[in-house]
Amino acid sequence: MPKCIIHVLNGPNLNLLGEREPGLYGSLSLSDIESMVRAQAEVLDATIIFRQSNHEGDLVSWIQETAKSDEPAGLIINPAAYTHTSVALRDAIVASKTPCIEVHLSNIHSREEFRHKSYISGVSLGVICGLGAEGYLHALSSMVSHLAGNT
Ligand code: DQA
Repeated sequence: MPKCIIHVLNGPNLNLLGEREPGLYGSLSLSDIESMVRAQAEVLDATIIFRQSNHEGDLVSWIQETAKSDEPAGLIINPAAYTHTSVALRDAIVASKTPCIEVHLSNIHSREEFRHKSYISGVSLGVICGLGAEGYLHALSSMVSHLAGNT
């Protein structure tokens, strides 16, 4: 099977991880999480494109890009606050036809009610939340298995 490409996209304020509400989001920075993801991707022989933006339009454009590769591609996204507001991200995921796993560091269902609604979950293969940075690693191994036809 050709090497797969996994796009790992991170939404607004995730550039502040490590300093931002560590009791909720943990003490690792986004670049620590990127290193963990890259280390696991090497073992799984996957190529990683890891990005963060505070701007919805960047995320939409990057989701659109996932449809352009020749290799099998997957999307792992922590849309952060856009989870709860963005029809544009949802539409981009549907249009891309790229399989998507939604990740949150915190358990959005045990938090404020406005966080219980996700525009992304209904168009995702799966959702992982509340497991901190580990959630990205679970998403990565599940996505690689999915692209290999095992799930
Ligand atoms: C988050 C949860 C969102 O509700 C919040 O807006 C974030 C981070 C998480 O990873 O737990 O910014 O996506």
